[in-house]
Amino acid sequence: MEVLKISGGKALQGRIKASGAKNAITKLLVASLLTDKRCTFYNVPNIGDVDVTVDLCREIGMEVSWDRDAGIMEVITKELKTSYVPQRFSGANRIPILMIGALLGRTNEDIIVPTVGGCLIGKRPVDFHLDALRQLGATIEYRGMKKEGAYFAHAHNGLRGTVITLPFPSIGATENTILASITARGLTEIRNAAIEPEVVELILFLQKLGAIITLDVDRTIRIHGTRHFYDVEHTIIPDRIEAASWGVAAVASKGRVFLEGAQHLNMVTFLNKIREVGGGFDIKADGIEFFYDGPLQGNLHLETDVHPGFMTDWQQPFVVLLTQSEGSSVVHETVYENRFGYTETLMEMGADITLFKQCLGGKQCRFASQSFAHSLIVKGPTPLVGREIAIPDLRAGFAYVMAALVAKDTSTISGLHFLDRGYEKLTEKLNTLGIDAQRIEQKTSDQELTPKKKKSKATTAYSTVS
Ligand code: EPU
Repeated sequence: MEVLKISGGKALQGRIKASGAKNAITKLLVASLLTDKRCTFYNVPNIGDVDVTVDLCREIGMEVSWDRDAGIMEVITKELKTSYVPQRFSGANRIPILMIGALLGRTNEDIIVPTVGGCLIGKRPVDFHLDALRQLGATIEYRGMKKEGAYFAHAHNGLRGTVITLPFPSIGATENTILASITARGLTEIRNAAIEPEVVELILFLQKLGAIITLDVDRTIRIHGTRHFYDVEHTIIPDRIEAASWGVAAVASKGRVFLEGAQHLNMVTFLNKIREVGGGFDIKADGIEFFYDGPLQGNLHLETDVHPGFMTDWQQPFVVLLTQSEGSSVVHETVYENRFGYTETLMEMGADITLFKQCLGGKQCRFASQSFAHSLIVKGPTPLVGREIAIPDLRAGFAYVMAALVAKDTSTISGLHFLDRGYEKLTEKLNTLGIDAQRIEQKTSDQELTPKKKKSKATTAYSTVS
């Protein structure tokens, strides 16, 4: 088993590049299946989730050439090889479900997508996706299969534009509906749509591809269907989750980090919270510098929300920052019902965190009457103690890296495949910032005791990620 060993207690110092956004490039790759035109992407991050998506798209018929060092990828799907997503992608991530929207207009065959996976941060159903696609004219049914079930979808009578109101501004459901509406006849209007920068990326890409598509301030997206496409060149936006993760790590470790390429516009809400807590930042022409600016003040209220609110994916590293800030802070998670699982390990490391089922803070959220622990109070500052840590999901993974950085002694982190899927060159970046961090092979007690049994265990092709 490979683990990441981090010697904590040292400030992050230096300059690193913000990578391209995972949650943008993966969607644009799927979107490029809409057409037989060539699409060229720049600033493509070399991360596991892009690998999984490329693998998935190749399965469908995409030809891909990827210069990983230069971050340039050229793709073209002259024709579909199949519209069947193999079971091995089942636990992979949320991307396979978007295949339905992308392929409905390109094939008359059934599109078959196994049950989608994703980080274990809530139930994560796909009902909004399916309802919206059905309103556009798709027939979708879920069939039980030998091992597990799959969605079977087709639009034999074609797709027709209509007005769709999403019950919640879900990112995935908005993207799936946009993808399907591109090849629908007439106008599609999506109300209460997600307007995250990554969704806007998809809109910009589709406009270049040939769509007439508008986004109004009231969360309404309008798409005129088309089948007339153009070649596209597109530079992926910097990853605002990765950028915030490094920014918050710089402040918590009492260091100074310049994040080349980080964008002000997509991080406004995050930067406000950094300022509230007493952290420093300096917005330059070519990036953002984050730094420790004296004692950190907690006593703040943080509520995650859809854009332009505070991202749910910023929450985990920020909670680690709050463990190092003076006073009691309240955090209310309103996007996912179960995204505080990672706090147990933080508490074992010394953090003072109490979980609550009630909505703490300003507003009642969708989870008010349910029994999920989705609010917390964190008291700081508390010293953290290094230890062995197992990562349960991607964003929790970076929170643990931060906890290990803040802790005075050494921590050993396992479950690195989660981090690899979303954080490009993590160990290299830590080293560049002056941290003693290395990936090493470590025997598990399981390996020592029963090596044969371990080898014979069936392995799934992909484990869960965002
Ligand atoms: N929801 C439903 N039904 C649906 C769809 C969503 O109830 O059909 C609920 C979800 O259960 C959740 C909420 O709506 O409570 C928001 O889910 P959304 O659909 O917006 O999330 P997603 O598209 O599945 C993306 C990112 C996540 C990020 C969330 C929220 C990707 C691949 N994933 O997921 O990223 O946390 O939006 O911002 O874009 C990550 O990168 O680590 C990650 C988990």
